Amino acid sequence: MEITDRERALLGRTFLDFQATEDFLECPVILERAQGVCYWDRDGKRYLDAIGGIFVASLGHGHPRVMAAMRAQMERMTFAPPLHSISDVTLDFVERLGQVAPAGLGYVKPFSGGSEAVESSLKFARQYFKQTGRPHKYKVISRYLAYHGATFGGMAASGNGPRKTKFEPQMSGFLKVFTPNHYRDRFATWDEANRFAAQTVEDVILHEDPETVAAVIVEPVGNTGGIITPTVEYFRMLREICTRYDVLLIFDEVITGFGKTGAMFAAQTLGVTPDIICAGKGIASGAMPLGAMIARTDMAEAFAGGGGRNFAHGHTFAGHPLACAAGLAVVNEIVEQGLCARAVEIGELLRGRLRALARFGIVREIRGRGLLLGVEFCAPYQELGKAMKRAALENGLILRVDPGWFAVAPPLITTDEQLHEMCDLIEKSVQDALTRTA
Ligand SMILES: Cc1ncc(COP(=O)(O)O)c(C=O)c1O
Repeated sequence: MEITDRERALLGRTFLDFQATEDFLECPVILERAQGVCYWDRDGKRYLDAIGGIFVASLGHGHPRVMAAMRAQMERMTFAPPLHSISDVTLDFVERLGQVAPAGLGYVKPFSGGSEAVESSLKFARQYFKQTGRPHKYKVISRYLAYHGATFGGMAASGNGPRKTKFEPQMSGFLKVFTPNHYRDRFATWDEANRFAAQTVEDVILHEDPETVAAVIVEPVGNTGGIITPTVEYFRMLREICTRYDVLLIFDEVITGFGKTGAMFAAQTLGVTPDIICAGKGIASGAMPLGAMIARTDMAEAFAGGGGRNFAHGHTFAGHPLACAAGLAVVNEIVEQGLCARAVEIGELLRGRLRALARFGIVREIRGRGLLLGVEFCAPYQELGKAMKRAALENGLILRVDPGWFAVAPPLITTDEQLHEMCDLIEKSVQDALTRTA
């Protein structure tokens, strides 16, 4: 699209997330409107949203139930004083999230996004051990290639060098292990690579002294590394290791939560219950900024008892009534419409279409769970994503593309026809990208 002088000047006065304005200007998109699985830019061009914005629009854009819930809440109250009160709808949301979370996880605090949820869970873990007689447990183990947020704690737990080194020194007490993908070419089977990767977590805990380790934080499906999808056994091993050394297992489900993997939370598809879940993105379908920390119900006891004991944490907009009204509508819609099962059904359709890309000779691996899938390019196509991102935008398709892989996670309400249209555009974009890079 053509950018006006005014827009160009204004773009120079703000910034886009994790990208240079100059790069954005090579294929700029200024959006004006969205409905269902579509966006329209200010020239009226339509874009199919094959990634829910950025894993956010679980029910698509402008979902009537979510809009109605927000409208009703807007008429009643849009803010409650956090040091004096909590809103009724926030309590309703706390109750509902506790009902749909894995059994035993019922201590819920809504926040305004994923980074806040992660940051809070890290602080919660440290304070929990201080108040339960093990004050030296503070270290956090996470994985290279992970992304846990842009704030200092989330960034320290993240494992992406270029996004971190500019802000060094990082917070202390954050240790890293590799994901199973790092070892996949060194073992005969994927299962063995997973076992080895899980074992490294125990090795690190033992070498650091278990009395100093508070938590292990992992994404059930890791986005930034390229939809990294460890085995179920890997997560079961992590659970056993964490239990053995009294280390909290935190699942960062900011991307995997709210239906995409075939259950409300990926933890439920794995049959592994962490001690804390961090949620965000799809929780309110993008209608309002919302996230949540969902911890083991019994952990609340460490913060109860009066005498000034509390979780020394909060954010002005945490539990915002309008956001909670939107979140409540999203969760109820997912449950009542059986959208977790739909994610599995349509995910199979998507997987089949992605497999068909093999005929271009570019696919190394298809990964993911349910309706959260990724395609890794094989050699010599590791840089294909650059051309593909641009081709997709020109073809009216929003995708998550990194040079070496791309991810697809459309809204749970996507129809079969819409999915096929998205896949046709993916194929066309691959073809265009191959032509351009030939
Ligand atoms: C796994 C994961 N955790 C945390 C975050 C941070 O969430 P937010 O951008 O809402 O702060 C993200 C964002 O992409 C994420 O993918």
